[in-house]
Amino acid sequence: MSKFLTAIQPSGLLHLGNYIGAIEPAVESQQENELRMFVVDYHAITVPQKPDELRQNILNATAIYLACGIDPNKTLLFQQSQVPQHTELAWLLNCTVRMSELERMTQYKDKAKARGENVLVGLFDYPVLMAADILLYDTDVVPVGEDQKQHVELARDLAIRFNRDFGETFVVPEPRIKKVGGRIMGLDDPMKKMSKSAGSAKNYISLLDDEETLRKKIMSASTDSEGKVAFDESRPGITNLVTIFSIVAKKSFEQIELDYVGKGYGDFKKDLAEALTLFLMPLQTKIKTYLEHEDELIKILNAGSIRAREEAERKMEIVRKRIGVKL
Ligand code: AMP
Ligand code: TRP
Repeated sequence: MSKFLTAIQPSGLLHLGNYIGAIEPAVESQQENELRMFVVDYHAITVPQKPDELRQNILNATAIYLACGIDPNKTLLFQQSQVPQHTELAWLLNCTVRMSELERMTQYKDKAKARGENVLVGLFDYPVLMAADILLYDTDVVPVGEDQKQHVELARDLAIRFNRDFGETFVVPEPRIKKVGGRIMGLDDPMKKMSKSAGSAKNYISLLDDEETLRKKIMSASTDSEGKVAFDESRPGITNLVTIFSIVAKKSFEQIELDYVGKGYGDFKKDLAEALTLFLMPLQTKIKTYLEHEDELIKILNAGSIRAREEAERKMEIVRKRIGVKL
C-alpha cells in the first residue's frame, strides 16, 4: 500500500482535463492505497481572487471531488489553509531552494508572461508551497497531469537536498502521469493543453457544461481534413477527441477506430457529445445535491483538516528538531 496525494486549486471551473488527468486517477488509487486529497486555496490566491467567489469555489471543488467518488471515509479530504503546517514548511523550504530553480519553472514563465507587471511573489513561490504539500505527508506517489511533472520533480529535489543536509526526513515522491490522458488538449487548439485560463470557452468542456453547450463545443472542435477517425499522434485534434471518447465511454482506441470505418467526423462527434452527456449529467446531479448541503461539505472538510493537522504537526516537530529551532 503506497501513500498517494493530490490536490486541485479552487479557481473557477474544473474541466474534463482536470478530471481525466488528476481526479479520476486519484479516485482509482483509493481502492488499494492511502490517499490524501485537498483543496489548495492558498495556491489559488497566487493570482487575485474575490473573497466571495473563492469561498464558493472551495465548496464547488469539494462537491466535485465527492461527486466524482472521493470517499471521505477512506480518503483524507481537507482544505489546505486549515493546516498551517503547509505554509510553515514552505517557508523552511524557501530557505533551501535556489532562485534559479524557480526561474526555470515553465508554468511560472507562461503565467508570468501573461500577467506582465502584475506577477505576485506568491506565483513565483507556488512550487515551494506545493513541495511542502507533498513532503509533509510522506507521500510516495503524486497522480497529476503532465503540466505538473516539473513541480513534483522540484519536490523530489528539495526532499533529497534536505535529507542530505539535515538527515533522513522526507520520503522522495514520484509523479504518476497517465500515458493516455495526462495531457488533454484544447478543443479549439489541439497544440495547447485544455485549460481554464484559455482565451475561449470553446477550448474546454467544463464539468458543469449543459448538454447543449457541450454538444456545440464538440461539434466545433478542431480536427483535420483527412476525415478518418483514428488515434494517430500526427493528427492531434482527432487523437484528442478519440482519447476523450475512450475514457468517458470506456472503449479501446481499436474499437473506436473500427466503429467509425467509413463514417465521417460528424457522426463521431455526435456520438462523442452523447457519450459525454451520459457521463456528465449524472455527475452534475450529484454535484448539485452536495452543494445543496453546504454545512455537510464544511463538516467533511473540517473533520479532514483536524486529522491532517495532527499528521502534519507530527512531521513538523521532526523537521523543526532537524534544523535546530526546537529547543
Ligand atoms: P489545475 O487546473 O492547474 O489546478 O490542475 C489540476 C490538476 O489537473 C493537475 O493535476 C493538472 O496536472 C491536471 N490537469 C490540468 N489540465 C490538464 C489537462 N489539460 N490534461 C490533463 N490533466 C490536466
Ligand atoms: N499545482 C497543482 C495544480 O495546479 C495543484 C497542487 C497543489 C498539487 N499542491 C499539490 C497537486 C500537491 C499535487 C500535489 O494542478
